[in-house]
Amino acid sequence: MNKRSIVALKVVVWLVCFTPLALLVYRGFSNDLGPDPTATVTHATGFTTLRLLVISLAITPLRRLSPRLAWLVRFRRLLGLFAFFYGCLHLLTWLWLYSGFSVAAMADDIGKRRYVMAGMAAWLLLVPLAATSTNWSIRKLGGKRWQALHRLAYVSAICGVIHYWWIVKSGVRTPITITLVLAVLLLARIVWSVRQKVSRQAGVVTAS
Ligand code: HEM
Repeated sequence: MNKRSIVALKVVVWLVCFTPLALLVYRGFSNDLGPDPTATVTHATGFTTLRLLVISLAITPLRRLSPRLAWLVRFRRLLGLFAFFYGCLHLLTWLWLYSGFSVAAMADDIGKRRYVMAGMAAWLLLVPLAATSTNWSIRKLGGKRWQALHRLAYVSAICGVIHYWWIVKSGVRTPITITLVLAVLLLARIVWSVRQKVSRQAGVVTAS
């Protein structure tokens, strides 16, 4: 894919990634956030965080399917940073709309609801990834250490899925789908690493 098409596609990805927020703002101004606006905003931001995180994790396995998909890697950082952006909006919703910035209310919630702990863990794991998403950090850390650090994205996604399972009261369908997709991505990752190891031991060089 040439540079111009990549730029055009990046504009589309920016617009698509901003759509959930634009819809929430539009529904907020038109007083259409439903009977429980806090829940609507929390669910929309939480769901968008998890979806974007899983989509960003799908890029590496997809591009390994065919060299013609190598250009996909140009979108991994953008999608990862948008996942973090919505994760911050989601956290802000809990800090502000759920807890009213009251430390006592937050501590009480964390103590009572185990899903908040899982959500917190998922978010905290995204912080070093967002902080080291620049080219400067990759150079500073070196490719190998950077890649090792960014495997935490899988752990964050697993915590996000656990957080979601612990929240869900009805409508089981949705968590199953996202859990299965994440399981397939993890499996693809593990199979690839094992193949790499075996081929290295056999002295065969393969593309990373
Ligand atoms: C900072 C930590 C976080 C806190 C305090 C938090 C808190 C919450 C709360 C209070 C809810 C609504 C629960 C309810 O309906 O009763 C929720 C829903 C949700 N959160 Fe989080 N969350 C956090 C981080 C995350 C992260 C990092 C992800 C994704 C990776 C995530 C994904 C979700 C999802 C998918 C839902 C449910 C959406 C639905 O039912 O449609 N959360 N979260």
